[in-house]
Amino acid sequence: MPFQVLHFASVTSTQDIARMLLHDHLVILADEQRDGRGRMGRRWFSPPGGLWFTVVLRDPPDLLPVIAAVAVCRALEHLGYSPGIKWPNDIILDGKKLGGMIAERVGDYVLLGIGINLRNEIPHEIKDIATSVDADRDELLLAILDSLEATMGESRDEILAGWRRRSVTLGREVCIRDENICGFAEDIAEDGSLILRTSRGTRRIYAGDIIQREG
Ligand code: BTN
Repeated sequence: MPFQVLHFASVTSTQDIARMLLHDHLVILADEQRDGRGRMGRRWFSPPGGLWFTVVLRDPPDLLPVIAAVAVCRALEHLGYSPGIKWPNDIILDGKKLGGMIAERVGDYVLLGIGINLRNEIPHEIKDIATSVDADRDELLLAILDSLEATMGESRDEILAGWRRRSVTLGREVCIRDENICGFAEDIAEDGSLILRTSRGTRRIYAGDIIQREG
């Protein structure tokens, strides 16, 4: 099924427009978001120049966030970059965050919101941890949509292998932010959770932010 892209100059959040128009394979693209939202209730700075969009999917595969991270990496690789994935689905380039995604469920639909820093300004306070690429927005959007459709058609094993291959988290000591849990990031499970080997045994982490030393 082809994607249908609706382009807006300025919105509160592409997630808001997607929620109002709920339609399978609809894509809401905006030049800027005045109230862009990130994971864990954080603000997502979205000035002109970046790629800010939401894909509406009806009954998508349950691994959608994992699929989306792999698909975004493949699209960036197609343009010549070498991104990685920090669990759960931050897109990392040279140790800094290039983009991220959120998935919100509305009945049978999932609103997959993706943000990638391109030619936009990056706020001073996150310059040490965020980065951007000088890529053409519309070219990258189309590459991501193509790659999303292709990756959604893959088997769970292929998708998880694609995630593992690009992971910058597995094989490292990590801590879960705001929780007293640290351990060795052993693997990603079939459901996308992180398998952590801690001093008290193996734990599965389903949501949250991890802290890991870059490098
Ligand atoms: C994260 O915290 O890493 C997720 C960031 C997701 C940002 C995108 S930009 C398009 C869509 N609209 C939003 O308000 N958020 C997502």
